[in-house]
Order: sequence, then structure tokens, then C-alpha cells
Amino acid sequence: MAERRVDPDDGTAYTYDELAAYYKGTYKKSVVEAYWDTCKPAKRSKGKAKEEPTGKAKAKAKAEPKAKAKAKARVAKPAGNFKVCVCGGSGGIGQPLSLLMGMDPNVGELCIFDLTVAMVPPAGVATDLSHLERKCKVKGYQMAPDQKAIDHLEECLTGCHLVLVPAGVPRKPGMTRDDLFKTNAGIAKGIVEACAKFCPDAVLGMIVNPVNSVVPAMAELYKKKGLDPMKIVGITTLDVVRANKFVGEITGKNPNFTNVPVIGGHAGTTIMPVFSQDKTAKTIDEKDIDALDKHVQNAGTEVVDAKGGKGSATLSMAYAGARFGRSVLAGFTGRKRVECAYCKSEVTDLPYFAQKVVFGEGGIVKVLPLGELNERETARLEEAKTQLKGEIETGLKYAEGETLAL
Ligand code: NAD
Ligand code: LMR
Repeated sequence: MAERRVDPDDGTAYTYDELAAYYKGTYKKSVVEAYWDTCKPAKRSKGKAKEEPTGKAKAKAKAEPKAKAKAKARVAKPAGNFKVCVCGGSGGIGQPLSLLMGMDPNVGELCIFDLTVAMVPPAGVATDLSHLERKCKVKGYQMAPDQKAIDHLEECLTGCHLVLVPAGVPRKPGMTRDDLFKTNAGIAKGIVEACAKFCPDAVLGMIVNPVNSVVPAMAELYKKKGLDPMKIVGITTLDVVRANKFVGEITGKNPNFTNVPVIGGHAGTTIMPVFSQDKTAKTIDEKDIDALDKHVQNAGTEVVDAKGGKGSATLSMAYAGARFGRSVLAGFTGRKRVECAYCKSEVTDLPYFAQKVVFGEGGIVKVLPLGELNERETARLEEAKTQLKGEIETGLKYAEGETLAL
């Protein structure tokens, strides 16, 4: 039986042939293929997705004026034409993340920014990616380490809708993410300062560690300049990806249909998977939950140790960063998406927190409440908050002593 995937446009499951027939004449085959890549597989049995075997194919065959008009209105939305910049785009995360963003049908322009001392010149990464059979134009920008982004990135950042920031130093074995703050806060500040000047309405997806402190620091600097702190968003998607994968390994279920919210932050005990809120994860025996929780918390360190001093997670982070980026861009097109993200928040008594948010036009349009927690998770939340509080304070203190030069 041909595979069916759910078209996020209408929540209905289609085969590739049905989808291709529907979009034929409107989009090139390669665009439809790229769109198919972004559709999640449909469940075989009941489930939420409406199983309409004849859905789009039927709509096309009928070709009634009304159906045609509806089809037109529907296809007017699929692909956006957004400008995306990856800062640190020649790095371990930056290169594969740029590749995946270049394949997103909503990306019209992709900028790769990095330093002149980067492993590969950003212009080289850009030339390489410019040969993908995708619609987006790709260009590289570079700057010497002693230069300021605000003096060099006008063309690169002007008009950007989404800026992804994997620029910064990664951990080595034995280090905590906190140990990176001094170096990485300065790198993040230079980039955020340039964004404040050239693309103040863009969503800034911060990958650079320590996310728990860098995001409050940068968001408060935005606030000081009268800009919207909600544009500064910490990417914690990798924690969700890991939780889903590990739940799949234990249950034998396809992790594609698992969606464990991971709340709190992105370091140690602040990484708090809420297993009780996912239908597959909640079937796991209570006695196995503590170990699973620890596995998600320590997954980053497992990669750092396995890479033996040659960096931290890059490929899985690129995958997670692209999932985040895809959701942000889908939101811009008017298709709301829910993801966990770390941002300014009022869902707890801490000023910054990771929880589910809704991405829509302009970025985060809603921060969702935590939902129901079981007894274990309620206690765990207190543990997460204790660590997170100190890490937020590090960021707030940094912002007190700094200002963005605009
Ligand atoms: P990397 O060293 O491979 O790449 C970093 C890139 O940033 C390099 O190409 C470097 O030249 C560039 N860079 C440094 N300073 C810059 C500046 N001022 N402007 C532009 N580019 C600059 O490191 P990586 O493995 O890609 O990791 C990058 C960051 O992402 C690290 O801080 C790491 O801890 C973090 N990280 C976060 C997560 C997460 O879940 N949020 C996951 C993995 C890694
Ligand atoms: C991760 O979770 O993989 C990243 O935060 C990188 C790290 O230092 O662990």
C-alpha cells in the first residue's frame, strides 16, 4: 500500500501521487517533492488525520469551478519566500543546518555568515549549496574575528525573516555549558546587535550555548533598545527530538508519532521531559522513567564524550534546528505550528522558560501553559527551576552591564 503523508495545509493524508496530481501545473516536481519531505507520515489506522483516499486526486478530477477556486486559494499559500541567515554557517552545526534550510520550500534566500578563520570560507559553503536543485539563492558573508558584525552585515541581514545562530564555541569533555558563557555571550551579542539594526523584526533562533543564560541576556538587551524580546528564541528542539527517539527505543513505537514536550531549559536538570503528556511515553513503566529522564538530560554530554574533544552534537542539532526553522517559517505563511522553545515567559515564576509555544505570523504568537503534570513531574519542576534560576540570573546580570550600539 502506498505511503500516505499528512498535508499540513489541510490535515488530510495523501499518497505522493495524489499530492503530485493536485499540485501539477502549479509547482515543479522538485518543489512538490520537497513539500512531500516536510509532510509527516500518516497513521495507518484511525488517528486524527482524515484518511481520504480520493481527496486531492478527486478534487482535481472533478475540476468543478468551486473546487478549482478552493484549490487555487489553497495553493496560493504553500511556499513562502523568506530570507534566512545562518550565523556560524561554516561550522559543525552551521553547514548541515544551512543544507537543510536550503531545502525548505519556504526559503527564497539563504545567507551563510561566518568568520574569515572558519574551517571553510562561507562563500565556499554558499557556492556549494547554490547547486542544490532548490529555488533559494545562496550567498556567503564573512568578517575577520576583530571586526564587528554591525559594521559588516548590512546586506546580509537586511530583509531577513529568520536568523539562526549556531555561532560560538562548543563544549569539550569535562566542561559544562555554563563554562562557555563568557566567550559565547560576546559572540552572540555582536550578532544580535547587528540584527537589532538591520532586521529587528526577524526571529532569532539561538542555538549558541549556554542557551539558558544567552537568551535572557540577548532578550533583555533587545528590550533595553525598545525591541521585542520575544523575537529572541532559544532552540531546545534537540531535547524534544532526543526524548522522542529514546521513547521509541524503549517502546518499539515509531518516534515520528511521539511528541514529548521538554520544558524548563537546555542544561542538566533544567531539561525536563514531560513523559506523562505523550500517549506513547506515558505507557512506559514508572520505574524506568527516572533513567529515561537522565538519558535525555545527559544526551548532549554523551555526544561530547563520544566525540573526544572534537566538538558536540552537530548533525542531530542541525536536524533539530531545521525542524525549528521549518516551524517558524510555516508560521510566517499563516500555518501555525507548536514547538517547545525557550523564551521570555510567564508560565512559571521564572522570567524565562522553555515550554510549548505557537509560531504564527511574526514569530511566537502564544506561549502555552505547562498543562497537567503528575506528582513526580511536579517535584521535578522545582528541581529544574532551582538550577534555571541561577542561569537566568547570569544572563540578566550580563545584560545590565551591556548595551547594543545602534
Ligand atoms: P563549531 O565550532 O563547529 O562552529 C561554530 C562556528 O561559529 C564556527 O564556524 C566559527 O567560525 C563561527 N563563529 C565564531 N564566532 C563567530 C562570530 N563572531 N560570528 C560568526 N561566526 C562565528 O561549533 P558547533 O558545534 O557548530 O556549535 C556551535 C554552538 O552551538 C556551540 O556553542 C554549541 O555549544 C551550541 N550547541 C547548541 C545546541 C542546542 O541544543 N541548543 C546543540 C549543539 C550545540
Ligand atoms: C547538546 O545538547 O548537544 C548541546 O547543548 C551541546 C552540548 O554542549 O551538549
